[in-house]
Amino acid sequence: MCGIVGYIGAEEAAPVLLNGLKRLEYRGYDSAGIAVLGKTGLQVRKAKGILKNLEDKITPEINSALLTGAMGIGHTRWATHGGPSDVNSHPQTDVSGKIAVVHNGIIENYGKLKRQLEGRGAEFRSETDTEVIAHLIDCYYKGDLVQALIEALKRMEGSYALGIIHEDEPDRIIAVRKESPLIIGVGKGENLIASDVPAILEYTREVYYLDDREIAAVYRDRVEFYDAEGQGREKELAHVSWDAAAAEKGGYEHFMLKEIYEQPKALTDTLRARIKTYAVKSINLEEIGFDETWAEARRVVITACGTAWHAGVIGKYAFEHFARIPADAEIASEYRYRNPVFNPKDIFIIISQSGETADTLAAMRMARKSGARIIAISNAVGSTLAREADLVMYTWAGPEIAVASTKAFTTQLMCVYLIALQFGALRGLIKAEELARYIHELEQLGSHTKRILASREAVQRFAALQFNKTKVFFMGRLFDYAVSLESALKLKEVSYTHSEAFAAGELKHGPIALVDSATLVIAICTQTALFDKMESNIKEVKARGAATAVITFEDTAYFDDTADTIFRIPRTADCLSPILSIIPCQLYAYYCSVQRGLDPDKPRNLAKSVTVE
Ligand code: AGP
Repeated sequence: MCGIVGYIGAEEAAPVLLNGLKRLEYRGYDSAGIAVLGKTGLQVRKAKGILKNLEDKITPEINSALLTGAMGIGHTRWATHGGPSDVNSHPQTDVSGKIAVVHNGIIENYGKLKRQLEGRGAEFRSETDTEVIAHLIDCYYKGDLVQALIEALKRMEGSYALGIIHEDEPDRIIAVRKESPLIIGVGKGENLIASDVPAILEYTREVYYLDDREIAAVYRDRVEFYDAEGQGREKELAHVSWDAAAAEKGGYEHFMLKEIYEQPKALTDTLRARIKTYAVKSINLEEIGFDETWAEARRVVITACGTAWHAGVIGKYAFEHFARIPADAEIASEYRYRNPVFNPKDIFIIISQSGETADTLAAMRMARKSGARIIAISNAVGSTLAREADLVMYTWAGPEIAVASTKAFTTQLMCVYLIALQFGALRGLIKAEELARYIHELEQLGSHTKRILASREAVQRFAALQFNKTKVFFMGRLFDYAVSLESALKLKEVSYTHSEAFAAGELKHGPIALVDSATLVIAICTQTALFDKMESNIKEVKARGAATAVITFEDTAYFDDTADTIFRIPRTADCLSPILSIIPCQLYAYYCSVQRGLDPDKPRNLAKSVTVE
């Protein structure tokens, strides 16, 4: 995830900025940069890759006093728009090179703004959405950066945390945020801005937390706050008591929990820029550029590994459901050694959070040779998968640090649903109004996940009672079966509990022989037409002594008399429920791990990215 730091005070800014950026390295990034304002004007230095590259570039300049100035802004970038490169790194500047901007978030209408600004003569050097902001502010600049920013913000859609400096205003840094965190650290004769607490802890523990759309003008000796209309406002200073380790995790005990909690935002980020709102809402997948030729496709084949494969299984059901096209979900490590039958009219969807999984890449390369179209879904801009696939759709989840995948999974689902829905519309199977209804449901998922997370204590209490179970089975039908697969994997990975997933209808074909009083069965029940079938399955395992829990919609009492424990999730379309029903299961796995005294972020024997066979 990108990181922001800014400094204004009496010290040389460059070393302070570098130091702050180092404290944000744990968040993951692919390039870094700083802008310093001093006697020689605004100076920008950027470097692709690790922070050391930037440090090596600027240290000689710092030592020989060529890069001086007591104010500046810095950034570590995790690429979203445009791959990792020097030119795409932040700070981005306007045409005159007087305005420098660092940005976390996504400007959703940047394409439109860019075309308008180019029409007015702006020349763009990078592929980033951030450069648009610098040019836009320049358009409105008449000697007051705050006023120019207020006007520019009126035209920007999306999420942002921004640090901005202007060569003609050497006494202040301007900061603003919307849906992306930003704080102001208050020191003695110096002030800082940062996206995260660790960047400022060495300098101060007194902070202002910026509210959404609030603007701060940060001077060396004071901070002024304005609302979105430019009206001044007062704010209260807060004290940070976290130690450095807690600060890195945003106050959460582990990255896994932090990332589970980041899902509402990650889902919204992944969805929002891909929705067009005119008379009725529709899906706009510019990155894929669907046209009529796609309707000729005969089959969709999804390949991936682990959690990404589970997203693929849900994708298979989604393609059948929305687009009525044959679809397969293939485990990449198997697929690459089979002798599969290809057809140039197949569409391959390759899913990989890291974009570097060896088996997944091998399956992709095989599919390529067949002449089929390849769409990659990845969380890593510039990864091997992203570079080699014909088309890439990014999950804008931000870097996932915990080994167990959580927010990458739900954002992969969001991408898969969008492609399947768009495909259904293209094949004339989903009419505009129906599509708009599904989009509405997708838009609700961010707030629905927030509500589920708000009741996490129920899952925590349940885990405290059940964490010692030696056998945990997840079961469900259709989409719920796929969620069961992912839930069992999560529990295995982080708590080392023997857990398995079963298609509930398969129980009596064998697995029920394993069920006894030492078993916990978690039934995922969101396929409304199959509630009675699931009820029978729950009764069958109860009769053999198993403890039972059900995850179902909050507006049904269907399982109240059957299950021992019920976790409720907000109502959504049955086919979209996996994005919600997986959340209690992620939390359950996390709390079981903690109860067992394990480190959920670093499970034994596992690596985040499996780049070898
Ligand atoms: C999930 O929690 C995993 N650690 C693992 O299954 C992972 O999803 C798999 O290795 C695929 O990784 P990728 O998405 O980076 O390709």
